[in-house]
Amino acid sequence: MGLKADSIVIEGGKPLRGRIEVRGAKNLATKAMVASLLGDTPSLLQDVPEISDVDVVSRMLDAYGVAVTSPAPGELLLDPVNVARSHFETIDALAGSSRIPILFCGPLLHRLGEALIPDLGGCRIGDRPIDFHMDALRAFGAIVDKSYEGIRITAPDGLRGANIELPFPSVGATEQVLLTAVKAKGVTELKNAAIEPEIMDLIAVLQKMGAIIWTEANRTIFIEGVDQLSGYTHRAISDRNEAASWAAAALVTRGDIFVGGAKQQDLMTFLNVFRKVGGAFDVREDGIRFWHPGGALKPVQVETDVHPGFMTDWQQPLIVALTQAEGVSVVHETVYENRFGFTDALNDMGADIVVHRDGLESVTRRVPRRKLEQAAVVTGPTPLHGAEVRVPDLRGGFSYLIAALAAQGRSRVSNIGIISRGYEHFVEKLEALGADFTLEA
Ligand code: UD1
Repeated sequence: MGLKADSIVIEGGKPLRGRIEVRGAKNLATKAMVASLLGDTPSLLQDVPEISDVDVVSRMLDAYGVAVTSPAPGELLLDPVNVARSHFETIDALAGSSRIPILFCGPLLHRLGEALIPDLGGCRIGDRPIDFHMDALRAFGAIVDKSYEGIRITAPDGLRGANIELPFPSVGATEQVLLTAVKAKGVTELKNAAIEPEIMDLIAVLQKMGAIIWTEANRTIFIEGVDQLSGYTHRAISDRNEAASWAAAALVTRGDIFVGGAKQQDLMTFLNVFRKVGGAFDVREDGIRFWHPGGALKPVQVETDVHPGFMTDWQQPLIVALTQAEGVSVVHETVYENRFGFTDALNDMGADIVVHRDGLESVTRRVPRRKLEQAAVVTGPTPLHGAEVRVPDLRGGFSYLIAALAAQGRSRVSNIGIISRGYEHFVEKLEALGADFTLEA
């Protein structure tokens, strides 16, 4: 997204102060773009963030013949009238490390009778498995063939509604089912579905297109297939993960940031934890002000969880704040098996974080223990000092930025391109908040 620099050199110790805006959520915008493939007419998506994940999906849609244009800043017009087949090599080259290509399956099966997922043997889509996705597609009647090139999915007899129960409320697998069931013949019942706000917003998009979807208590979603869908006009829900990240930045740097566009309803669980740690916030109509009110921060015990729990994407910036709390905090990661790798670099900067690879039992646990969980024990407060660190992933990368901003002395954070996958104009935002830094190629 126009970010040429590889590294940012930060002089830390300066509070971030000012106002920034968050726009449409990465975790909705990219899915709504895929949904445009299901319509017979063009769709207009508004408040689209300028992030590289949106670029990846634009290029993939283009490879399938969808004309993607931007009639105005922050708007994407997606015209699926000339959708056509593509090739493994093309999709492979475009997909990069993105996981979104998996979500093209249902719409492409409806449209072209075939979908390709490239290079699954490698680590292109991370070590995150896709078994729930494939099992769901098979339940709809799709045939999944693995070859040396990747996975080819076909549906010679069309797709039929299915009864599906997910082993875990996976966000992506729930979206897979939604994007497939809307045009499958008959009714689909999806049990143990994810109900993240971005999923509810995707359901709103699909309903605008003509889909019939209703949700019941206990994570059950019903979808009655229809023969035809049209395009939509939709303003993406705001990015609650970006908002939470900037909130943590305010706390960690003892600053004061107004996050325009942040929505209380989607951040309730985060706001509770932010308050318990000692952060202050003020909810306004056009956003939320987050600041450090002075005094000591307090330790907390947190378990990441599916919505409405504490989102796994919030733990990385929170952990940086917890290094400054007085006492011992515990963060249990129950959604991903390996999401604490970023803490090594924080320890190099002076933090005291011990990761328990097999998790920790604890009497105050709310979320039942999952086999794959890990726990991080953060003992604070520990002053942070500047260091040379390399961004490992999106959220870990942002947490390095805010650690460097809070640290005494100079830090060099390299591989910052990854951060622009999900944080729109983060360099400009740092500038607007008064950060002291220079960029390096
Ligand atoms: C989405 C979000 C990501 C967020 C995550 C959990 C996007 C682009 N990304 O990722 O920011 O952290 O939800 O809220 O929306 N799993 C399987 N088999 C599968 C699919 C998932 O075992 O087929 C497991 C995963 O390994 C993980 C858990 O289910 O342990 C949750 O993954 P999932 O909810 O699917 O995450 P994503 O949709 O990839």
